[in-house]
This record gives sequence, structure tokens and C-alpha cells, in this order.
Amino acid sequence: MFSMATIKKLAVVLGLAYGLAFSLAVRAQQAPGDGPRYTSGTNLVRPADYREWPFLSSGLGMTYQPSARSESAPPSFTNVFVNPSAYRSFMQTGTWPDKTILVLEIRRSDSEASINKGGRFQTGFAGLEAHVKDSQFPDGWAFFNVGTAESAAPLSGANVATCVECHTKNAAVERTFVQFYPTLLEVARQKGTLRSGF
Ligand code: HEC
Repeated sequence: MFSMATIKKLAVVLGLAYGLAFSLAVRAQQAPGDGPRYTSGTNLVRPADYREWPFLSSGLGMTYQPSARSESAPPSFTNVFVNPSAYRSFMQTGTWPDKTILVLEIRRSDSEASINKGGRFQTGFAGLEAHVKDSQFPDGWAFFNVGTAESAAPLSGANVATCVECHTKNAAVERTFVQFYPTLLEVARQKGTLRSGF
């Protein structure tokens, strides 16, 4: 038979094991991952902490048609961020996993303020777009114009046609412009995941 002391020890060990299992379960619930979150199934919730995500690059005044060049409008910066788990996966494989969310933050620019005498620096927020890889969408990817909203529906129809066309035709890895994200470009080159032509 077990002595009372043995039973007490067993009770303590079981109690500790239960406590550990419980705290792990709670932690799992609290950390649902850093991928896209939705309301109503497909409306992307604005990623509150995207400014803490890996930074891929900034474009300055990038335009895509010769006629769109306007010397009078000051150029904007486009800052690109990606959720940390997708970034780590890209560094291993050179491609994006399901539940990747890339954010394009648009900021106005200025020059010759404070001590600055040349070049341009970033100023006010001017827009937020997202590009999400998620198998729940018909072709595996969706675009969102989030702006300052709490959540946004996937762009559809005529609103997304030009986005899809340009990204599909011209982007270096899947639908993403890795050719303009220098650290990723190096990885994609090593892993051989660049679209042919790059
Ligand atoms: C004519 C080409 C073109 C069109 C049209 C276009 N984009 Fe892009 N997009 C780019 C380029 C080039 C980049 C890289 C930007 C940079 O380096 O700052 C980019 C980057 C992005 C990114 C960052 C992640 C990625 O996929 O590389 C998002 C998000 C994005 N675009 C959203 C959109 C949305 C939403 C639309 C449609 C409303 C759109 N784009 C239309 C060329 C285009």
C-alpha cells in the first residue's frame, strides 16, 4: 500500500503537472499567431502592431506610368512590413507561407525643415494597404485598402483588377515585389524562387 507521505507527494506532483498544462493552454489561447485576423469571415482587421514587424523597404515617389510623373506633387514614401512568422518562413524557403500579411504604409515626405538642407524625410500618414496570402480566398491572395479603418473588406471587381494585374505580371516572387526588397531578393536568389526573368 502507499504510505500517506507517498500519496501527498503524488498529489503535489499531479498538482504541478495540472498547473503547467493549464498555463500552457492559456498561453496557446492568448497567442493566436501573428497572421491575418478577420471579422465577418473575410474583412481584414487592421494589424495594430505592424510597426513592430520586420521592415522590408521603402519606395520613394515610385510611379508606374511615364505620364504619372508629376514634378509638382511631392513624392510619398511606401514603407513595407510583413508579419514576423511569414518573414522567418521566407528566410528559410524564399516563398511566402499561408497566412502571410504584407502591409504597405504610405507617408508624405518633406524637405528643408529643421536642420535638413537636402534629401527628403517622412511625415504624415497617407494610407495603408495590405496584401494577404490566405487559402480561404479564391486565388490564394487578397488585397485590402485599410486606410485608417478598424477593418476592411477584400477589394473586388474593378477595384482590384489593376492591383492583381500589375502584381501578377511584374512581381518577382509570387505576387510580391521582392525585386524592390533588397534583403529578400538575396534570399530568393539563393533559394531559386525568383520568377524566371529575374
Ligand atoms: C502598376 C503596378 C502596381 C499596381 C497597379 C499596384 N501595385 Fe502594389 N506594388 C507595386 C510595387 C512596384 C510595389 C513595391 C512597392 C515598394 O517597393 O515600395 C507594390 C507593393 C505593394 C504592397 C506591399 C507588398 C507586396 O505585395 O509587395 C501592397 C500591400 C500593395 N502593393 C497593394 C496594392 C493594392 C491594394 C493595389 C491596388 C489598389 C496595388 N498594390 C496596385 C506595384 C503595383
